[in-house]
Order: sequence, then C-alpha cells, then structure tokens
Amino acid sequence: MISDPSAPTDTIPLIVDVDTGIDDSLALLYLMASPEADILAITCTAGNVPARQVATNNLAWLDLCAYRDVEVAIGAEVPIVQPLMTTEETHGPQGIGYAELPAPNRPLSTRHATAVWCSLARSRPGEITGLVTGPLTNLALAIKLDPELPRLLKRLVVMGGAFNHAGNTRPTTEWNIAVDPDAAKIVFDAFSGLPADRRPIICALDVTERIEMTPEHVAELARVAGSVPAEVISREDPAGTRSSASNRVVRHLSDAVRFYMEFHASHDQGFLAHMHDPFAAAVALDASLAEFMAATVDVEIDGTLTRGQTVADWRGMWGRPPNVDVVINTDPAEFFRRLIDRVGPYARAVG
Ligand code: BDR
Ligand code: CA
Repeated sequence: MISDPSAPTDTIPLIVDVDTGIDDSLALLYLMASPEADILAITCTAGNVPARQVATNNLAWLDLCAYRDVEVAIGAEVPIVQPLMTTEETHGPQGIGYAELPAPNRPLSTRHATAVWCSLARSRPGEITGLVTGPLTNLALAIKLDPELPRLLKRLVVMGGAFNHAGNTRPTTEWNIAVDPDAAKIVFDAFSGLPADRRPIICALDVTERIEMTPEHVAELARVAGSVPAEVISREDPAGTRSSASNRVVRHLSDAVRFYMEFHASHDQGFLAHMHDPFAAAVALDASLAEFMAATVDVEIDGTLTRGQTVADWRGMWGRPPNVDVVINTDPAEFFRRLIDRVGPYARAVG
C-alpha cells in the first residue's frame, strides 16, 4: 500500500463545546482545516445565541464544508442557576453575523451533550482534549454525572475569564464565565489537583483581545483561497455590505467577520475583530503557541458587582496548589499566519 505523505501521523482527538458565535465559527473552520484535528464531537451550549441556534450553525458550517460526519449534540439550554443571557447584538440575529448559511441537511445527535462528554472520555481515557469556547454549562453538568471526567481527559482548553484585564460583559467579567459563573466554578474546582501537564489551559481576555483580525487578514485569506474579486472589507462601506466572493467559505466567513468588526468599531475597539475562540482552538492543537503561568483560579459567585469574575491567586496566598495554566503571552502574527495558511487552502479545496 502506498502511504499518503499528507496524512497526519499524530492526530489530536477533540471534544469541541461551543456557543457558535462568530469567533466560534472561525474556531470550527480552523479545526476543520487542520489535518491533525480529529473532531470526535461538537457539543452545543447556550451562550451567544440559544443552544438550538448554536446547533443549527454548527451543522451548517459542517455542511458548507462537506466535512465528514461528526456527532453534533445539543446540551444545556439554560445556565445552571441564573437565567440565560444571549448577545445577538455582538454576533448577529443567528449568531453568525451577516452570514446566511444554507439550512443544514445533516441530523443532530439523539444524545445529550453531557452524555457525549462522559461516554467519549470513558471510551478513550487519557487521550481526548476538551476545547470549550462557550459557557462551561455542559462540562459542569457532565462532571456532575461523572466526577472522574477531569481525570479522564488528556487536557482541557478553555476560552474564558479576565484576570489583569477589564471585562467585556461587566466591568470585571468575561462573557463565557458571566453567562454561567456557577458552571465555571464547578469546572475549576473539579480540575484541581491534576499533575502539571494535565492542568487546564485558560485563554482569557488578557491575551485573546490581542488576537485582532483586521480586514487585511480577511483579504489575505481570500487571496490564498483563490477567491475573486479581492476581498475588501472597508470601514467606509455602508453597514451590512455583503461579500461577493466567488469562494463560498470566504463569502460566509467575510459576512460573519464584517458584523463582528462593525460591533468592535461601535464599541471603540477599532475596525477589527477579536478572535478569542480560534486562538483557543489553535492552542488546543499546539500549546507551544502560548506562554503560560500556573495559578489557582476561582470564580466569584456571591459578589453583587463582581459575580462571574475569575480571580487568580498567582502567589499562593490561598495555600491551594495551582489548578490551571493561564496563557500570559503569544505571538498574534504567528496565530494569523496559521489561520490563513490553514483556512485559506481549505476554503480553496472545499469552497
Ligand atoms: C467569548 O464570548 C463570546 O461572545 C465569544 O464567542 C467568545 O467565546 C469572548 O469573551
Ligand atoms: Ca464562544
């Protein structure tokens, strides 16, 4: 048999839990475009938009790319304690900005997301990396079903929290934690006591707000994808201008990201889009993209002003061993090189 030189030798089995979401969408594209990523399942939690819309978005992206069959399972439709908040003003009416993806044909799993987390982790102990780019509700509920779950995963990578950085939801809180602080606390507590190389990796706003996607990045990705005409997203365009890209993946990606850029511009953050979730996906595939510092992290549950704040004890003042590795630095240019080098040729191939 002739071996395929392009076939990856080491794959990374993943459970991907998302609240898709514009940047979650690009995280999925990054993973689909990465040959080493072996997506075992995509689990859907309520966050940016309701869980059923998240599921529709995930199925639609998979369909658009004619990606192989992957189990997509709906999970928690509301947070563990507090009412659900969603943020259509950030991510668009369907959670994918101005993109209008064709209705998906593939079916949803009949299993609940928590059952998927538990059974996959049990079936491959010590092998699977969990990636969560939405609220931690599904994972917290799965841990309640199977308290061994933290010990069954190889590694957990989470996009969430803000440490020495302003919040993006309330003054001190980041969205994914603010949507379900009780779930976040359950997860951080449950993952305590693991060896250093198994500690969850936390990608918080401190670093993810440095992952600034600009119109030039979209233009370059489109060029690599062979899309015509040149993909120009201009701040001067009327709000809601749609892409006419020949490549379908580029067209929908561009329509999604334009909405996010307009949102960031309207919040005085510049005409750009923070790629929180794709960065976490890239770290899940290759942790060497980031520098870390071990810390003991807990979540403020009772604060009247600070509920949902992630608090890091960097100096061991609580006398508790570190339970996470917080990303403290990265090279954003290297991240965007990888995003373009992967998603560009992938879009060319499938689009
Ligand atoms: C996080 O919140 C969501 O709106 C994004 O998808 C990302 O996961 C950033 O705070
Ligand atoms: Ca998200």
